[in-house]
Amino acid sequence: MTFVVCFWPMVKLTPLLPASISTADTIHYNGVLIRSLPMDGAPKSRATVSPSAGSYQGMVEISPRRTARVLVVDDSPQILPLMRELLNSRGYGVVTSANAEEAEAEILRELPDLILSDVIMPGKSGYELCRDFKSNPATRLIPFVLITGLSDRESKVKGIEAGADDFLNKPIFAEELFARVKSLLTLKEFTDELETADSVLCTLGLSVESRDPYTVGHCERLAKHAVALGQHLGLDDESLVALRRGGYLHDLGKIAVPDEILKKGANLTPREWEVMKQHPMTGENICKPLRSLRLVLPIIRHHHEHSDGSGYPDGLRKGEIPLLPRVLQVVDVYDALRTARPYKTALSHEQAAAAMRHEAERGLWDEELVAQFFAMLTELRQVA
Ligand SMILES: [Fe+2]
Repeated sequence: MTFVVCFWPMVKLTPLLPASISTADTIHYNGVLIRSLPMDGAPKSRATVSPSAGSYQGMVEISPRRTARVLVVDDSPQILPLMRELLNSRGYGVVTSANAEEAEAEILRELPDLILSDVIMPGKSGYELCRDFKSNPATRLIPFVLITGLSDRESKVKGIEAGADDFLNKPIFAEELFARVKSLLTLKEFTDELETADSVLCTLGLSVESRDPYTVGHCERLAKHAVALGQHLGLDDESLVALRRGGYLHDLGKIAVPDEILKKGANLTPREWEVMKQHPMTGENICKPLRSLRLVLPIIRHHHEHSDGSGYPDGLRKGEIPLLPRVLQVVDVYDALRTARPYKTALSHEQAAAAMRHEAERGLWDEELVAQFFAMLTELRQVA
């Protein structure tokens, strides 16, 4: 495969390139044409690699906190060391794989921050690799760049459909490579920060749960069953993510409820009940600043509404309560009925089903969703 790497003139690649290689406009290395960009003045010092200094100019541009890790996937033995050298020159950590299968193994070892992949490779193509990564929740947020000599529209569309975040056309210009990598790693950093914020809030949700020993494991079960019900209903991926997060975050507002009220559980005084009823709004306010939790906010606020309007905090009626909180609510009620508390024993599956159907008829829960939930559980039991 012929591959062309272009970079600014005066780039020194001494650790990799033999001494015969010049810094002229066009040079060759082991059959790989390395062509410079047109001169537009002084060489860009950012692209300069100092082979002996041990530290390069322009290092650590992405994050002072840690070295970003770039995975380069290409079947060409000439390309991988060149890409490593170029990216190392900007302070990025680089791992390389000669094919998609190696890349998958590498990712299992440690997740990269960015993937640069050739398109046409023996075995699985770059398109297939990209599609696999983008359909995996563990890797879908890692920016994926397809490196291609194919510049026609059909190939681009194919890459976009596979989920690629960006493209690099061959020949690769070093400055273009650096600009794309920097931009995508900055985006990844923001995503990581949002994920970290989500994780912190989910951990807070779990800490609320841990204050009551009788509810341990409730959030995790809720997240799992709410996603299963969402899948059973055919909801989209974004809604499923919101349901999973809702499982952990729905009761986050209880962080502001004192222990003596939270652990009492039943027979609350009117004053204590008023404090308890604040938790959906408190939780919503905590999560409101995070745009990534946009779909979770209705779950947090409305998971105690009832179809007959007797719920809280807004007294919404059937038809006014959004779908996602109704989904989580059904799962939440089932889990509560099936779990022993100081003031009640755990019901069997059949008892819980009968109780929920009765309460749905009375106007507490969504009758259709209750029916769908038990149909799903029946299906799952048959599969098991
Ligand atoms: Fe709640």
